[in-house]
Parts: sequence; C-alpha cells; structure tokens
Amino acid sequence: MRTTAIEVSGLRKAFGDRTVLDGIDLTVPAGTVFSLLGPNGAGKTTAVNVLTTLMRADGGTVRVAGHDVASEAKAVRAAIGVTGQFAAVDELLTGRENLQLMVDLHRVGAGPGRRIIAELLERFELAESAQRRVATWSGGMRRKLDLAMTLVGDPRIIFLDEPTTGLDPRSRRTMWAIIRDLVAGGVTVFLTTQYLEEADQLADRIAVLDHGKLVAQGTPDELKRRIPGGHVRLRFADPGDLDAAARILAGATRDDEELSLKVPGDGGTEPVRVLLNRLHDQAIHAAEFSVHTPDLDDVFLALTSHPSTEVPAP
Ligand SMILES: Nc1ncnc2c1ncn2[C@@H]1O[C@H](COP(=O)(O)OP(=O)(O)OP(=O)(O)O)[C@@H](O)[C@H]1O
Ligand SMILES: [Mg+2]
Repeated sequence: MRTTAIEVSGLRKAFGDRTVLDGIDLTVPAGTVFSLLGPNGAGKTTAVNVLTTLMRADGGTVRVAGHDVASEAKAVRAAIGVTGQFAAVDELLTGRENLQLMVDLHRVGAGPGRRIIAELLERFELAESAQRRVATWSGGMRRKLDLAMTLVGDPRIIFLDEPTTGLDPRSRRTMWAIIRDLVAGGVTVFLTTQYLEEADQLADRIAVLDHGKLVAQGTPDELKRRIPGGHVRLRFADPGDLDAAARILAGATRDDEELSLKVPGDGGTEPVRVLLNRLHDQAIHAAEFSVHTPDLDDVFLALTSHPSTEVPAP
C-alpha cells in the first residue's frame, strides 16, 4: 500500500491583510513528484515554508511524513530536506567544505562522511571544482551544490523551490536526471517551478496556485485535456482570402490584423485533410499553415487570470 508523504488540508496564511494561501488542500503519495505551479507572488515559497516548518500557518493542518508541522516540527525536520529558492551555500567555503558542514550537522562519522561527499561531488559533476571557494562558482554550480547538501542526510521527502531557475538547458537536464533518480529510489519530491516543461517532465501530479487557491490539480495530461487549445492556424496573403475562408470554416476565429484564422481541432489528421480539401475546392490559398496542440503553457495562461484568456469551467 502506498503511504501518504504530505497531507495538507485547509491551509491558510496571510501577511497582514494580504491573504496568500486561502484554504489549500493537497495530498502527495510517497514516492511521487508533486509540482506546484503559479505566477510570481502566488505563494509557492510561502507554501514550501509552511510545509517545511520554517513558517507557521494561520489555519488548517499540514502533515509531513506522518507528523504535524505545528506540533511535531522536530520529527518533520528529521524526515525532510529543503533546497530553497535562493542557494543557501556558504560562498567563503569550498564546495567540499560546504558538504562537510552538512555531514557534521548530520553527525555522520568521518569515514562514511568522506564517502558521501565523494559520491555527491561525482554525481553532481562538481568534483573538479570541489577545492575552490564557492564564491568563484557559477550560479548553476551553486544550485547543484545546494541540492547535494540537501541530500547528505538521505531525506525521504525533499522540497525543491525552483531548483532549475537560472540553469542552462544541459544543467537543467542533469538536475532532472538527479530528481528522477531520487524518485526511483523511493524519495518523494515537492517541487515548485516556473517551467511548465519541467512539471510536464517530472511531475506525477501538478497543482496550479493563483490568488491563494489551487485553481487546478491533476496529472499533466489531465490538465492539458481541460484546455481546448488545439487548433490549426491559417494565415492569408490578402483579406479577400481571409473572408472567403472565414465564410466556409464554421467555428473559426479570425484575426483581421494578422490576416489569420484559428480553426479548432482535436489533434487528429482527418479534420485537417477535410479542411485543406475545402480550401482547395474553393481555390483559397493560405500563405501559412501550422498545427498547434495545447501544452502546459496554454493551461497555465488560461488558469492564472491572464487578461486575454478565458478561464474554462472546471
Ligand atoms: N515574510 C513575508 N512578509 C510579508 N509578505 C510576504 C512574506 N513572504 C511572502 N510575502 C508575500 O506573499 C506573497 C507570496 O510570496 P511567495 O514568495 O510565496 O510567492 P512565490 O509564488 O514563491 O513567488 P516567486 O515565483 O516569485 O518565487 C507575495 O506577495 C509576497 O510579497
Ligand atoms: Mg518563490
């Protein structure tokens, strides 16, 4: 039976009269990746802070690893690892010394400590720079060291607040591989991210936070299915063609400035063939043709009060 790693019910948090979390419910099964998405200022870091005992909630209950974050903070802390949004490494120390600090904190013996440090430096491709002061490291290297430090205590539940922000595409993929490895080893990951592709790649479940509430929750595919974003786009060279095409293609939305038509589609090939045949029969020529499938960006924009998008009914 799968156990529950994180259980949040009715979580509320306000700063002064500004309510940041307005009744959040979520459940994360052990050994899965849960991703919290939301625009800047939505309250992602606040949620992480409460779940990791760094901040007290105003209401609701939060259980992490079976313990209440308010009354059993110590037990929660013993079970989790946290990599905050901003790297918590000591710049004046070398990479190895930073890791040694964590080894000492976790009271790991000298022998095993050396082995753990060597393993982590290797795994995060930091061995070459380990003897240099972190002040001379790049931002991406610091992010990796930060996560490596989190792993010293072998936590079973890990909170990662925007772990790949500022990383180049290759380092981002390295980080993803590390996260997948952790999950394969049974670790639960609570991840916030601005990168929808990242949530798509890693998360078993995604929740979208906006204006203090979770406005959507589900698997990446479930969320994508909620958004009727799939369409074919036609662009025409002159307004006459646009008019003619708009007349025969019911359900299309036209953009007179761009001389384009958006025709909703379900992603199958048959409707596209029919569409092209009809244009051909009427001798209507399109200058450009492209097929768009909804991705998580469409979901995000549709759900997070974007002024130009309609919010679909749940
Ligand atoms: N300690 C604090 N005191 C007062 N207001 C705060 C505090 N921490 C956060 N806030 C406010 O709460 C809101 C949510 O902030 P939070 O850092 O949780 O957002 P976020 O979703 O992590 O944003 P980002 O994507 O930019 O990291 C913001 O309006 C922020 O100004
Ligand atoms: Mg944040």
